[in-house]
Amino acid sequence: MTVFRNRVAVLHGVNFDVLERRDAAIYGGISLTELEHRISDWAHELKLEPIFFQTNSEGEFCEYLHRSIDLADAAIVNAGAWTHYSRAIADALELTGLPAVEVHLSDVEARDDWRRLSVFDGLVLAKVSGKGPDGYREALGLLARELGAGS
Ligand code: DQA
Repeated sequence: MTVFRNRVAVLHGVNFDVLERRDAAIYGGISLTELEHRISDWAHELKLEPIFFQTNSEGEFCEYLHRSIDLADAAIVNAGAWTHYSRAIADALELTGLPAVEVHLSDVEARDDWRRLSVFDGLVLAKVSGKGPDGYREALGLLARELGAGS
């Protein structure tokens, strides 16, 4: 039996459903649908299969992480503002045991002080921040290497 390890859950948190309405100087004016299309193309180039999820509910985000154990082999997490305070989401990510990369469109280190703190510190392979949509491409590359996808 062939075991495929190429499924990457791409989770977006609060306010990403209205990404195109957020400050274009910070987030680029792109919609979540457009962002997911780009991620999908990059993933397929790397022989990865993306699975997309977005919610504005912290509990649903945790529940999706619980299900990710069966649905995915790795995760990309952009939890939006929850990144900076939701220990519940950090605990949920930890229990998945999945290799994960944290991504932010904006440079969270160069904005408000409170955005520098991430509950995912120590839980993720890498944090990619301030590279816009290209940050997801970098995250996919890191996970492809981790999973040995396409080899
Ligand atoms: C964000 C950065 C967070 O600080 C912010 O709350 C977001 C988006 C980003 O992708 O740049 O909602 O995660």
